[in-house]
Formats: sequence, C-alpha cells, structure tokens
Amino acid sequence: MKKFLLINKKINSFNKSIGISGDKSLSIRCAIMASQAIGTSKIFNLLNSEDVNNALIAIRKLGIKVIQKKNYCEIHGNGLNGFSFRENTKINAQNSGTFARLILGVVAKTNKKIVLKGDKSLSNRDFTRVIEPLNKFGMKINSKNNKLPLKVLGTKYLRPIDYVELKGSAQVKSCILLAALNTPGITKIKCKPSRNHTELLFKFLKLNLNIKKKNKYDLITLKGEKQYRGFNYRIPGDISSASFFIVLTLLSKNSKLILKNINVNKTRTGIIDVLKKMNAKILLRNRREYKGEQISDIHVYSSNNLKCIKCPKDFNSRLIDELPLIFLACAKAKGTSYFQNLDELRHKESDRLKLSSKFLKMIGIKNIVNKNSFMIKGNPNLSLSKNFIVKNFMKDHRIFMLSCIAAMALGGKWKIYDKDSINTSFPKFLKTIEELGGIFK
Ligand code: S3P
Repeated sequence: MKKFLLINKKINSFNKSIGISGDKSLSIRCAIMASQAIGTSKIFNLLNSEDVNNALIAIRKLGIKVIQKKNYCEIHGNGLNGFSFRENTKINAQNSGTFARLILGVVAKTNKKIVLKGDKSLSNRDFTRVIEPLNKFGMKINSKNNKLPLKVLGTKYLRPIDYVELKGSAQVKSCILLAALNTPGITKIKCKPSRNHTELLFKFLKLNLNIKKKNKYDLITLKGEKQYRGFNYRIPGDISSASFFIVLTLLSKNSKLILKNINVNKTRTGIIDVLKKMNAKILLRNRREYKGEQISDIHVYSSNNLKCIKCPKDFNSRLIDELPLIFLACAKAKGTSYFQNLDELRHKESDRLKLSSKFLKMIGIKNIVNKNSFMIKGNPNLSLSKNFIVKNFMKDHRIFMLSCIAAMALGGKWKIYDKDSINTSFPKFLKTIEELGGIFK
C-alpha cells in the first residue's frame, strides 16, 4: 500500500455538519477505569484508533475480559488491583504516551514483574516525570536512563505521597491519581492546571477526591482504596481531532462547518479562545453537561481577517496538542504572533516546536525559535502553488494531518508521507476530508 498522499487541489467551499470520532484522552481513561471497576462497564463511541486499541490489548494481557460489541465496548473489571497475569508479562503502549504513563500508576501495587515497551517515538520520551512520583509511593521500576522499556517491579506496600507537579502535565497528574487510588491513606498533589478528565471521572464514580482551585495551581487530595462499580459512558467527540477541521474552515473561502457533540471541557478549549482572539467566528451551540464534561456543537465560519496573537503562556496546557494548527492559522494572520514557554511541545510524539518551525519555513513563513519561544510572521495573502514534500517528520500523526489541512486550505502540489500515522488518533481523518469535498490520491 502507498505510504504517501498526493494533494493537488484546494478544497472547494463547503457548508456541512459532521461528527468527529471519540475523544482519545477520555477513551483511554474510561478503558483504564473500567478495567479496575467491580463488574461490567459499557463504553459507547470509544475511539477506534491504534492508541486506544493497544490500550485494550494491554488491559486484556493483564487478565481483564474486554469484548468489542457492535455499538459499545464491554469491559469486565475485577475491582482495584484485580489484574491477573503471568510473571514478566510484556505490555506494549506503542505510540501512546498517555496509556504508558497512566497504566504505570494502575500497576503500582503489582507483585509480578511487567515489562512496559513502546515504539521508537515513545522509547525516546521521558518517563522520569512519572518514575519519580511512583518511586515516592514505594514502587520499583528499573530502566536505562528512565526510558522505555521499563521493568516494573511494583511493590506490595504503597504509601501515600505529597507531590508538586510543575509541568502542567495531565499524564503525570493522572498517573499519580491512579497510583493513589490503589494506596491506603490520603495523597496530595499540588499541580499546574491541566486537562481534568481523570478528576471528573473520579467524581462521577464517587471516589474520595477533593479539588481546591487556587490562583495558579490546583490542590488535589485523594483518599485511596475505594472500590467502585462498573459504569456506562458515552465518549463525546475529540476537540483535538475537531480542531483540524476548525482551522480548515477558517482558512478556506466561503465555508461553514458544524461539528456535532464535541467535548468542550474548559481545560481543552484553549484553541477556540485563541482563534477567537485572532478574530475567528466560532460559536458554541446546544451546550450541555454529561457526567461532569461539557459537550457542545461547534459552528465555525471562514475568516479573511485573522490577526496575530501574543498567546498568554498560561494557555499552553489548554491547547498543547493544537499548537501546530494554531501556528498554521498564525501563518495566515496579519502581524507577528508570539508564543512562549513551549518546552513541553518539544516532548510530544516528536519535537513539535522544531518540526512546526521547519514546516512553516517550507511554506515560506518566516519564524524564529528562541529557546522555547516562537515568533511567526504572518502573511494574510498566503497562497501556495509550489511542490511540497513532507517527509521525515518523525511519523507524527498531528504533523501529517497539519500538512493535509495546509494543502487543502492553501493550495500547492503536495506529497505527504506517513499516511498510516493517522491511525494513532484519528483513522477517519481522510474520510472526513472527503465528506467535505476534499480530493486526494
Ligand atoms: C494527554 C495529555 C497531554 C497531551 C496528550 C494527551 C492526556 O500530555 O499532550 O496528547 O490524555 O492526559 P501531557 O499531560 O504530557 O502534557
């Protein structure tokens, strides 16, 4: 099968209403929480992507029955610490930083060895951020330079910890919360705000969680070892996947798009706030609450007068995965945009700061990376006609999809490699482009 995509034509104007696949963060969290519940959980609209499917494979290897039904996924948990598996069980998180980090918290109390592996990209990523707090709980993990593969030795006796989390990483916070759930006593976390799906799920499951919102950080306490029953959950659409089509609409002429049933949890909607500050017309309609999450339809309109932004740095964790797309919007905005404190962007599936800069330079947009800040000189008349080859971008799914959106919105003749990378998070991405009338080979 061909590994690249050819795009030779801009997308025509569209006026459509579409659905978007289930949220990846919530899909992984629901699968993990169901695997430790007592009894059966039914998860509807679970994202069918490699990251989530690999999580299900790993959960099965830990002895949990997982049955994919036509309309939902059934997971039969045996309660906290209810996994049953053989010594030296190998689990492979492949590309998923979220699953790898969260599952480590869940297996903190294991008394059998587990080997946690990942693909090339994940094996280059930092695990010190989770190994350090897990060690404080008393959990033993062996590795070379705190990178995958990790040998998880666990411990029988976990002790609660007080921890300060300064990166604003939801993966780290969630890993700690999951370990705390298996630990007697009260764990306290002082953390920079980040996506709060784990906390909302804990509240929905009536676990002993308490959150105090301070000015610049959250104080979270959890009293561990409370069992909970299996649950039903319908995963809403993923704002990170929807964002590709929000930016496509903004940058295309005379178009309008409605994205139905999207999770617009405030900790995830930084991209909407930033694009609105840049003059974009984006409306949230039909808002409702679902098990603590906020769901809405998003209405987006084309825009021909985007202006630059000085992005407030406390926005970063609310839009971390959408930054490359926001940079693309800045490329077509009037004036010079400015972003700072982007260090975490360098630690994703690839160094997305470096790759975004390379990408924008390729399409003729001046930009400067200075340590962890980024300046983009926009060009409102940006229109492309040259040939572009997108290769060697570390097989990063979000960079592949960014390239397709740039090609569809701005023109040019594109050969974009690593087509399969979309299977990580958004296998229906290309089908959705087709639904809007986009043509590719
Ligand atoms: C995620 C948290 C973010 C994000 C990732 C998904 C999650 O990572 O980049 O794609 O589901 O918790 P960090 O928590 O490491 O910032």
